[in-house]
Amino acid sequence: MITLLHISDIHFGPPYYPEVGTALIEFAHETGPDVIVASGDFTQRAKEEQFRAVRAFLDRLPEVPRVVTPGNHDVPLYRVGERLMDPYRYYRQYISNELDTVTTVPGAVIVALNSTAPYRAVTNGRIHSWQLEFARKAFEGTSPEDQRILVAHHHFAPPPDFEGADAMPKAKRAIDAFTRMRVDLILGGHLHRAYIGNSLDVYSGVDREHGIVIAQSGTSTSRRGRAREREKNTFNVVRLDARIIRVTHYMYFAPAGGFVPTSRHIFFRGGRPSMTPEEAEEGAFYFDHERERVRGADA
Ligand SMILES: [Fe+2]
Repeated sequence: MITLLHISDIHFGPPYYPEVGTALIEFAHETGPDVIVASGDFTQRAKEEQFRAVRAFLDRLPEVPRVVTPGNHDVPLYRVGERLMDPYRYYRQYISNELDTVTTVPGAVIVALNSTAPYRAVTNGRIHSWQLEFARKAFEGTSPEDQRILVAHHHFAPPPDFEGADAMPKAKRAIDAFTRMRVDLILGGHLHRAYIGNSLDVYSGVDREHGIVIAQSGTSTSRRGRAREREKNTFNVVRLDARIIRVTHYMYFAPAGGFVPTSRHIFFRGGRPSMTPEEAEEGAFYFDHERERVRGADA
């Protein structure tokens, strides 16, 4: 079992809520995740002092493997010269020198792709075909038991209930590629509200035999929440084992003094239980930890 804390859009600068940030750090230490994923938009305006504050924040989190990826707010928007000449200068200096990364932890391979496009689609994002190839190579040879997790700031699938949240260009091409790579889980941000679902909900794609669980995190620490998470702060805790992916959505409530769980989502990896002849014989098509049978005992 792997426990993954997924935060996003912390937006250091004027929108950042210090008391919520402190609650998040306390939660992280209490929970003790195996890995922390922060899916971009660390700052509001990519200023050096904002990145310096982010660095101090990240240093207060538990010392476990971390996966980071830049967001569109981590490259300068208005400082056009800087955006064109050296858009990742402070991100590289304070967060990570590498923009596309592979992190291996026991039980999972996590690939983070830089979806920002500072020269073209400034806020919209983009994934290039060479990045898909980078991910394919990274997942090549991963054992079938190990989870294949993909992280990017921008979303590949619009949440079904939020207007105006167009996915990045060529998102369907990317979902098809990730389906062929047998990616289990996509983690992202950008929307400033959670969306937890399955790729097949929004795009039937190349192979209906394999759905990818999608978990977008809201803004974990800023006042920039949107839609149903307007003025709210959220993150997700993901627990993964060989068969099941569980995503628990947490929200900050000041009267509770911190983050509390608001919903829980349980998926079979790939959108269905594994179906070897032996397992079919056992009738083992159930969420084993919860003992929630999805087929009768006589299956
Ligand atoms: Fe953001």
